Amino acid sequence: MPEWDALEMNRLREAAGVYGAKLLRRPTACVVTFGCQMNARDSEKLLGVLLAAGFEEAPDEHADLVVINTCTVRENANERLYGHLGHLNSMKREHPDKLIAICGCMMQEADEIEKIRRKYPFVDIVFGTHNLYRFPALLAERIESGKRVFEVWDSPRGIVEDMPKKREVPYKSGVNISFGCDNFCSYCIVPYVRGRERSRRPEEILREIRELAADGVIEIMLLGQNVNSYGKGLEEPISFAGLLQQVCKVDGLQRIRFMTSHPKDLSDELIRVMAENEKICRHLHLPLQSGSSRILKAMNRRYDKEKYLALTEKIRAAVPDISLTTDIIVGFPGETEEDFEETLDVVRRARFDSAFTFIYSPRTGTPAASMPDQVPAAVVKDRFARLLDLVQKIGAEQSGRDVGRTLPALVEGLDAETPGRVTGRLGNNVMVHFPGDASLIGQIVNVYLKEVHGFYYIGEKV
Ligand code: 5AD
Ligand code: SF4
Repeated sequence: MPEWDALEMNRLREAAGVYGAKLLRRPTACVVTFGCQMNARDSEKLLGVLLAAGFEEAPDEHADLVVINTCTVRENANERLYGHLGHLNSMKREHPDKLIAICGCMMQEADEIEKIRRKYPFVDIVFGTHNLYRFPALLAERIESGKRVFEVWDSPRGIVEDMPKKREVPYKSGVNISFGCDNFCSYCIVPYVRGRERSRRPEEILREIRELAADGVIEIMLLGQNVNSYGKGLEEPISFAGLLQQVCKVDGLQRIRFMTSHPKDLSDELIRVMAENEKICRHLHLPLQSGSSRILKAMNRRYDKEKYLALTEKIRAAVPDISLTTDIIVGFPGETEEDFEETLDVVRRARFDSAFTFIYSPRTGTPAASMPDQVPAAVVKDRFARLLDLVQKIGAEQSGRDVGRTLPALVEGLDAETPGRVTGRLGNNVMVHFPGDASLIGQIVNVYLKEVHGFYYIGEKV
């Protein structure tokens, strides 16, 4: 197991001093994050390193050092990176000592690295997901040598604990419980860019959570590509539900969330633990992907339409006030109108509180990218619009169901649109706006839900 290297941090502190001397001020840094919660947590580690090394956090990309933590789950994520790079290039012309680093999932793809190497000479540092913890050494090397530094590993070399972290907000935090994914859904690039599934040891997870709680965190989100298969391969195997029960016992924590659940691995034990523990938020994100059993098979999801629907019924029966959300892909290769109708049917029957809908995007190296019968763009566009309509209609109907109730909300900020109001998140992940001021931020308060406006509530603190 590699260890967090304090020596490399000392080296980076010195290098940051050299960089600052050249700039004649303390260097500033900004980490830009694309993609999922997993990436957001990685970015907190990158920023943690930078602050510990003497950089100052900057509000935007005018910083001396910009780190872009990329995503590659769909093609448009890749396009976003190249858009940003154009902009950063012009900034670097004005500020030639500016440093640009790129990391994350997209940097695990050989073609993309080559492209950056050849066409984007102003990029200073490239690293991947597996060697995130090498960031101090790589940045130090760039400053010391003045040369571009590229380091990407094909596979992980163990989990490194104890990287410094800078939370985005003081009162809530993500906590990694596993890394990588073993499921190989046929459309998905994640197993290739994040590697095989590895679970963190429960004692390390609990230690981190206790430290977070002692530091004022009241809500945590346990993170894994598939939290339901947590524990496989550990010396003393433990289930995800078993881990959750231990997390529930940590003093000071008030809310526990987790993301993401694969339907094929969601156990009865987990449903029971959710039902029994009030601290576990009444929200389950359960990606459907398609409602057609035939397409699900081609996607290698290892459940069918009936099994998915039975699961949602079982969950709603055990935890009646649960909010169910999902991910759906439209236009997977070979998807017919009948297949698509099956998806609409599941949406109607499962009554999702909200759904993220995606247009299928072929990813290089995945089995689906070379499947025949890619669906024409115009057909996909039409289906996507119909799906979105239905999802929004049902979501709006669902979100009204708590009008008249008083529920706890974690206040996350001022309401950007209406002065004198704050925005809070209910346990089921729905937002509520109500009169209040900045002193409430980070607190859980009881809110009477007066009315619903589309997907959010207007309330009154009680
Ligand atoms: N095309 C479109 N959507 C995808 N997703 C993952 N891979 C692809 C792809 N190739 C979606 C899935 C997943 C979510 C994070 O992104 O719905 O659950
Ligand atoms: Fe994007 Fe997937 Fe990487 Fe998250 S794990 S950043 S969704 S490619």
